[in-house]
Amino acid sequence: MQTPGERTASYLEKNRFDLINSWMAKVIVDMNDPYKDFIRINGLLMLDLTIACSKQSHVDEEHLRALAYKVSLERIKSNANIGDFVYNVTLGRSEIFQHMPRMGLSLEELAPVFQRIDILFDRFLYFAVHHYTDVKDRKMSEQESLIEQSHKDKLTILGQMSSSFVHEFRNPLTSVIGFVQLLREKYPSLEYIDIMTKELNQLKFRINQFLLVSKGRESSRDRENFEIGLIVEETLEFLYPMIVDLNVTIHCDVAPSIRLKGYPDEIRQVMINILMNSLEALSSCPVKLIEINGTTDGDRLILSISNNGPPIPHELMSTIFEPFVSGKELGTGIGLYVCRQIIVKHDGWIECESNDVRTTFRLGIPTRVTSDENQLDRST
Ligand SMILES: Nc1ncnc2c1ncn2[C@@H]1O[C@H](COP(=O)(O)OP(=O)(O)O)[C@@H](O)[C@H]1O
Ligand SMILES: [Mg+2]
Repeated sequence: MQTPGERTASYLEKNRFDLINSWMAKVIVDMNDPYKDFIRINGLLMLDLTIACSKQSHVDEEHLRALAYKVSLERIKSNANIGDFVYNVTLGRSEIFQHMPRMGLSLEELAPVFQRIDILFDRFLYFAVHHYTDVKDRKMSEQESLIEQSHKDKLTILGQMSSSFVHEFRNPLTSVIGFVQLLREKYPSLEYIDIMTKELNQLKFRINQFLLVSKGRESSRDRENFEIGLIVEETLEFLYPMIVDLNVTIHCDVAPSIRLKGYPDEIRQVMINILMNSLEALSSCPVKLIEINGTTDGDRLILSISNNGPPIPHELMSTIFEPFVSGKELGTGIGLYVCRQIIVKHDGWIECESNDVRTTFRLGIPTRVTSDENQLDRST
């Protein structure tokens, strides 16, 4: 006399091929799935486990787990949708359940077998989906750390190259600037000398930019107490040839009394980078306008620089302060990265907002100048 479990098992064994055929006829499968031929084999293996589990009073977890891991790896390799996979498995379960009334067993006899098969499919899905997500997560974090590492490597190389490149270029440049200065003194009416001076100074600033990415910069320097309005003025003066050339209108309103404690040469670099980007963005606009506004909010300088140029592409917005991100054909993508480094060093923040009307860079830096120091500075 067969037990209900044995009866179910022999029914399933006898109808193994009908069952698999009607199951496979319904599954969702991508024609390009490299593992599509394995789906039927896996279905048959699952049926065999179902047959075994019908006869026994427990689920054979070891074999079930092995099959689940195998299948989940195939699903990952074929980049399959996990939803499709779960759907296909549950199709198999309902295919079996639909056959159960034909086994000639009473409801009471069927119930425990039914339950065992149900648990078997539940456990299978649990192992497979768990493994699928684990492996996928691991793969993703491996990829992320690879990207992070290559980023770090690039920055290290850039830093090392920068320091040697900066020193090799800076010394001859400094002496050329000095000689041009001598020429200007000796022959005050000499043509083109002003243009040469301005171009050489631009070159010096651009080279200094690289020095800021190279590591080990003199962090022990003393912070200076300086007026932000003067830095903005100097920067505009420095960029004057470019501003005139492009015919850009500048509206500048920076309260004269705002003072910062920090590194004026670095803050100047921030101003140059942001303004150069603005000027470059405006090059093809019919009406070109840059607005600079400087105020204080408590003990904090709030400086905003905006232009009416085309907006920053949406996909660049979240990464423009990252190194090597550039929307320009010949851009280095380190300008805004350097800005952020400098601002962070000054314990401040920098943000950007860009829409069809204008692009604005806004930064906040603690002034750190006590009112006594302010008085002292002004009186001297
Ligand atoms: N004012 C601006 N208007 C439009 N796009 C800007 C502006 N400032 C920065 N960007 C975008 O941010 C990118 C990164 O700028 P930056 O770090 O200075 O690198 P680079 O100027 O070498 O491209 C630029 O390539 C540009 O696409
Ligand atoms: Mg730039």
